[in-house]
Amino acid sequence: MAKLIVSDLKDLKGKKVLIRVDFNVPIKDGVIGDDNRMVAALPTINYVLEQGGKAILFSHLGRIKTEEDKKSLSLRPVAEHLAELLNKPVTFVPATRGAQLEEAIAKMEDGDVLVVENTRFEDLDGKKESKNDPELGKYWASLGDVYINDAFGTAHRAHASNVGIASNMQQAAAGFLLEKEIKFLGEAVDNPAHPFVAILGGAKVSDKIGVITHLLDKADKIIVGGGMTYTFYAAKGIKIGNSLVETDKIELAKELLEKAGDKLVLPVDNVCAKEFSNDVPNKVFEGDIADGYMALDIGPKSVALFKETLADAKTVVWNGPMGVFEMSNYAKGTLEIGEFLGTLSDATTIVGGGDSTAAVKKLGVSDKLTHISTGGGASLEYLEGKELPGIAAVSDK
Ligand code: 3PG
Repeated sequence: MAKLIVSDLKDLKGKKVLIRVDFNVPIKDGVIGDDNRMVAALPTINYVLEQGGKAILFSHLGRIKTEEDKKSLSLRPVAEHLAELLNKPVTFVPATRGAQLEEAIAKMEDGDVLVVENTRFEDLDGKKESKNDPELGKYWASLGDVYINDAFGTAHRAHASNVGIASNMQQAAAGFLLEKEIKFLGEAVDNPAHPFVAILGGAKVSDKIGVITHLLDKADKIIVGGGMTYTFYAAKGIKIGNSLVETDKIELAKELLEKAGDKLVLPVDNVCAKEFSNDVPNKVFEGDIADGYMALDIGPKSVALFKETLADAKTVVWNGPMGVFEMSNYAKGTLEIGEFLGTLSDATTIVGGGDSTAAVKKLGVSDKLTHISTGGGASLEYLEGKELPGIAAVSDK
């Protein structure tokens, strides 16, 4: 059933609109590294403001385990950056509850924006946010008239600021970002145009088992790259040298290979080195990897094979790097795949996960792709076919 969307909410004038966003952005020394998630939330915030609503924003930032963590994980710099993005003042309240917050909300005028302090500050007292403390969700819900969830990145968590607030409001609507994420990821998984090719990378098979299993019946091909490749190699009896391997997953890799037949496309050559370092000589091995070497990127023949596999695709979903992308000598496989995706103008191309997203941004091909998900863990769980609690808590139309 279709979800209630923010644009279905008429008459926001004068309303206190609680909006859960995912502003969990990288911050170093108070400076925001990548504000993609913030930019992606602007359409919803602007819509609420244009309708005359008062936007009260909730987000977590990082993980709060000690009192000390609070110093580096305040949302204050995020609120300041939001003011720049919106080109208007934003009130930041350095509290997650109490008189200061309530008074600040009471003073708001139509079209004002307020950012509440990091919701996970509540985690120091019995993980109230992360464990969806019933009183906290009820309290936050009491601060507003309307609730919108636009935090796709957090949709795989059942926390007080998403599921908790939603279950204490008459209605919970999805923001435009959440709507967009559900549309693109949902269509790719449930109703893809064929050929549908998934590209899965990253270090561990264990992280991607759910996605591989779920997509086996849906995708025409699943390209595997990155560190998890070598557990599959081990399962096939190909020598892996010192490459990354999850020995306890070799049996499972065998089962997946058997089930998948020629659907799983593995690299045929790899860029290898004797140390996990950018500064040592590297060598390409086809098939077996010599003793003493570890694979750190896919090789040129694999890049060609993957491009051939992708050439006539109509739907592509990519999650995870093809190699040790952070090191320039092992970034080529990931970058070449990203670049190639940018040329597939007839296909719906969807990218999720930190490294693959960073790769397409670095290449400047983001605007040639259909959708770049703001979810890491959330997009992965969506591709696994799981019901995400943050989405389930949004009302149906
Ligand atoms: C993310 O960055 O994946 C989300 O914001 C969720 O953060 P978390 O993994 O700390 O819950």
